[in-house]
Amino acid sequence: MTAWAVLAAAGRGERLGADRPKSFTKLRDRPLVAESLERLDASGWIDAIVIAAPPGWEEPSILLAEELGCSKVTACVAGGETRAESVRAAVAEVADDAAVIVVHDAARPVLTDEVLERVLTALNEGWDGAVPALPLADTIKRVQGERVVETLPRDELVAAQTPQAFLASALREALSGELAGATDCAALVEALGLRVTAVPGDPRLLKVTDSADLELIAGWL
Ligand code: C5P
Repeated sequence: MTAWAVLAAAGRGERLGADRPKSFTKLRDRPLVAESLERLDASGWIDAIVIAAPPGWEEPSILLAEELGCSKVTACVAGGETRAESVRAAVAEVADDAAVIVVHDAARPVLTDEVLERVLTALNEGWDGAVPALPLADTIKRVQGERVVETLPRDELVAAQTPQAFLASALREALSGELAGATDCAALVEALGLRVTAVPGDPRLLKVTDSADLELIAGWL
């Protein structure tokens, strides 16, 4: 089973307030994207990697991959306006014979082989897609304007992370349709009526959104 990884690294990361895209802000002494790229490349679960880089940052991304000795990087494309558009551009570079595509956020640097194993095992068990997910600690409410209009049943809710794994055919079909409003790839696959499962996530797969997250994650490395 050939598994390709798409590394979504094209976000602007405005909340970090840096002079560069989020993937190139520093985690310890390296660009943030280096951590997940190196981990994907080192994983026995992954055969090839396509990077979706911030537009204009394709060359620095390729140089970084070379410096890190990441030999599985096959292509680097310019990302799009939204995450889903970035993933679509990267998936266009995935080989036709890929069986599985794993999509991972560069903003979640602490990728482990254990979570890759969990999502890929779910595909072997017959699911079309698998997402790592964590239970929610807080009660979730829907709010319109200032008013709470609904309290959602917490035992049915989880927070979805990446890496998300899909049968390549399912993800390609999902990306060929309307992408607006999708905040993860699984949502597009679910919308086709395909079967996506949730497997245990990892709190260390925290997504970097501000500089406090960078400091916290740096302490875990
Ligand atoms: O913006 P957010 O942090 O939710 O993005 C999640 C991931 O998607 C990040 O790794 C980011 O680089 C990526 N992304 C992308 N293209 C975009 C927006 C986000 O590849 N247009």
